Amino acid sequence: MYTYDKYDQKIVDDRVKQFRDQTNRYLAGELTEDEYRPLRLQNGVYIQRYAPMLRIAVPYGLLSSKQLRKLANIARNYDKGYAHVSTRQNIQFNWCELESIPDILAELATVQMHAIQTSGNCIRNTTTDQFAGVTRDEAIDPRPWCEIIRQWSTLHPEFHHLPRKFKIAVNGAKQDRAIIEVHDIGLEVVRQNNELGFKVYVGGGLGRTPIIGSLINEFLPWQHLLTYLEAIIRVYNRYGRRDNKYKARIKILVKALTPEVFAKKVADEWVHSKNGPMTLTETEVNRIHANFIAPNYKQLTDIDFSDIEQQYPGFARWRKQNTQAHKQPGYVAVTLSLKATATPPGDISDKQLDAVADLADQYSFGEVRTTHQQNMVLADIEQAKLFELWQKLKELNFATPNIGLLTNIISCPGGDFCSLANAKSIPVAESIQRRFDDLDYLFDIGELDLNISGCMNACSHHHIGHIGILGVDKKGEEFYQVSLGGNTGYHTVLGNVLGPSFAQEDVADVIEKIIQFYLNNRHADERFIDTYQRMGMEPFKEHVYANN
Ligand code: HEM
Ligand code: SF4
Repeated sequence: MYTYDKYDQKIVDDRVKQFRDQTNRYLAGELTEDEYRPLRLQNGVYIQRYAPMLRIAVPYGLLSSKQLRKLANIARNYDKGYAHVSTRQNIQFNWCELESIPDILAELATVQMHAIQTSGNCIRNTTTDQFAGVTRDEAIDPRPWCEIIRQWSTLHPEFHHLPRKFKIAVNGAKQDRAIIEVHDIGLEVVRQNNELGFKVYVGGGLGRTPIIGSLINEFLPWQHLLTYLEAIIRVYNRYGRRDNKYKARIKILVKALTPEVFAKKVADEWVHSKNGPMTLTETEVNRIHANFIAPNYKQLTDIDFSDIEQQYPGFARWRKQNTQAHKQPGYVAVTLSLKATATPPGDISDKQLDAVADLADQYSFGEVRTTHQQNMVLADIEQAKLFELWQKLKELNFATPNIGLLTNIISCPGGDFCSLANAKSIPVAESIQRRFDDLDYLFDIGELDLNISGCMNACSHHHIGHIGILGVDKKGEEFYQVSLGGNTGYHTVLGNVLGPSFAQEDVADVIEKIIQFYLNNRHADERFIDTYQRMGMEPFKEHVYANN
């Protein structure tokens, strides 16, 4: 992973000093609320329902064991003993005292971490595939390109006051695990006639107005990555709406202009910078690539697990769901499920963080990844050690074999912490997890994404869950709208609303009805989403509302 040079370290250390001074002045009444707000937001501090929330940047989801131990310490000493993995691969603390945030940031700086640009109208943390660099279905490792974007976008003076926040995601595998089409800019790293470049999507996003991104460039040669990104964001900075916050994202501009006109404006803008000083050179790219060379893998061959799996069906089940084929023979990538029933999705305790750090050191070259589905990954596990690791993960409550299944629910903090929420999310997630706690039943249902957001900001991507749940407010009461048919991957699809919303106590019943209808109607081996696409919304709707 990338390690700071002395300039990076100085920038981060200086920022902590500035923020300490700003916070002290605010607490002493020398800065008003309005003066302090942009300063705290530039350092990842939101004021929430009960306490300030601190969002820490995890560049493209990569963490060292040392950083994890620091996060564990912060959770223990400054929070209620928990950290939360967000849907943008970041880490959030929900219960910090404002007074102690400068100390937290100082501690983070000692392990090369910060909270700069994790909020505000700037380019946010660039995200990617959690299996980047190791997965067998990968064409090109996207992480060096994410790092190049990170270095360029962090503190970029021109893009600190964009009309709205700006999110970039990069993917380099056959399967799109970074959901690039619902980002302001989505990049797919591709090779064409032996040349490396990017497919460029623009104007995707969820939230109040969900839109799928448009492909505006079929092949951008790698040398031009930064000048072209700059051209896109310049066009947005210039023409994006600033009069209405809800119409300010680039997706609205792309839609208003049409993708063709937007692409033409970008091409016109690009003329000024193409082949200019920001053009990437091989030396520069090699400098960044040097931080992402493969670890010291042993020369191994793939293992046949059939004997051990016959003896331990639980292990077989877990291996099927929670591991991913590795490009290095004899290795495998393992997902740690942070979705055990009765744990808020994505929450991880200080003790668990320390334990993951130990496992990373012992089994996975000292590195861990966070995923946009709010789980963690140990990416480089020797297959020969997989059984041993599974036993340890079981003890730590990380081995729920539900990755890709219904109970791997993505859920935002909702009404329990978030001041924007219309409704709670965490208890709804728990009621569904309890209803589908039987593993055989869960396995029989098969692949299914269920996402719950507490309001239309869509932090938990409810639009792109096969089943989406959205908290809505009806005359001061909490209700839940259900949507079906959302899907991720290249050719992402937005779900459609099933019908009138439901009370909290009815949500698990409704989900069960939907699942039963699917099970009764599926063709052999058909996934939920395929049955939905074959049959359409109407029969599901009739079934769910039949007796209401
Ligand atoms: C666990 C906590 C949170 C997570 C995981 C999270 C994540 C996200 C994500 C992924 C989106 C993107 C939707 C898109 O792509 O357009 C989003 C949107 C949004 N989030 Fe959060 N968020 C969290 C907490 C918060 C909090 C505490 C606030 C407010 C103080 C907030 C405010 C918003 C807003 C306003 C949007 C809509 C932005 C827009 O599309 O215009 N989020 N959040
Ligand atoms: S979706 Fe709404 S309720 Fe949930 S975290 Fe985002 S802003 Fe808060």
